[in-house]
Amino acid sequence: MLELTRLISAFHRRGVLGGSLAAIAFAVLGSAAFTAKKRKGENDGASPQARSHASSKTLEKVNLRLKVNNQIYDIQTDSRSSLLDALRENIDLTGTKKGCDHGQCGACTVHIDGKRVLSCLSFAVMAEDKSVITIEGLQQSDGSLHPVQQAFIDNDAFQCGYCTPGQIMSAVSCIEEGHAANDEDIREYMSGNLCRCAAYPNIVAAINQAKTQMKRV
Ligand code: FES
Ligand code: FES
Repeated sequence: MLELTRLISAFHRRGVLGGSLAAIAFAVLGSAAFTAKKRKGENDGASPQARSHASSKTLEKVNLRLKVNNQIYDIQTDSRSSLLDALRENIDLTGTKKGCDHGQCGACTVHIDGKRVLSCLSFAVMAEDKSVITIEGLQQSDGSLHPVQQAFIDNDAFQCGYCTPGQIMSAVSCIEEGHAANDEDIREYMSGNLCRCAAYPNIVAAINQAKTQMKRV
């Protein structure tokens, strides 16, 4: 310890180190003691396979009956599964997109009981006994496109198309809610749906076209 104290004061005299005592001790003693301590906290001795097995045992699977696009699906999924993951992974309806998975982009928008929701922020179990509509279920009963879908095509309201299913689901709600009276309102009530291709002017034009066809402004 006497040697360590001498070394520290030597460093100070030379102005080599201005850091903390811990930094000095690390420089002098080497990393062995510090890394050993870190490893002790990181690794409890279990192999990755054993740890993975242990964590999978803690997953709770639940049986769910979901009504999506007027069809019944019985699925088994993790109780913590988002509605977005259940739609895409369990039901194979991949039209609903995963963008941020954090409620910030709107790509995952679907309708539950007629209201737009972000499916990445909704637990699948919360959709039981409710009616979920996705982009795949938006077409008319005769198979023709929904007026908003047709308007997006007519107005070139997309480029890469990744945000488009969410934009269309939100646009339908925007019109049905009565929030499409003018361009300013449309921009405001569509502001939760981001488009990295910046197709915004065309999206507003598409909504203006569709609202006259839906006659619900
Ligand atoms: S994926 Fe849900 S808001 Fe972005
Ligand atoms: S069309 Fe590409 S992100 Fe919107």
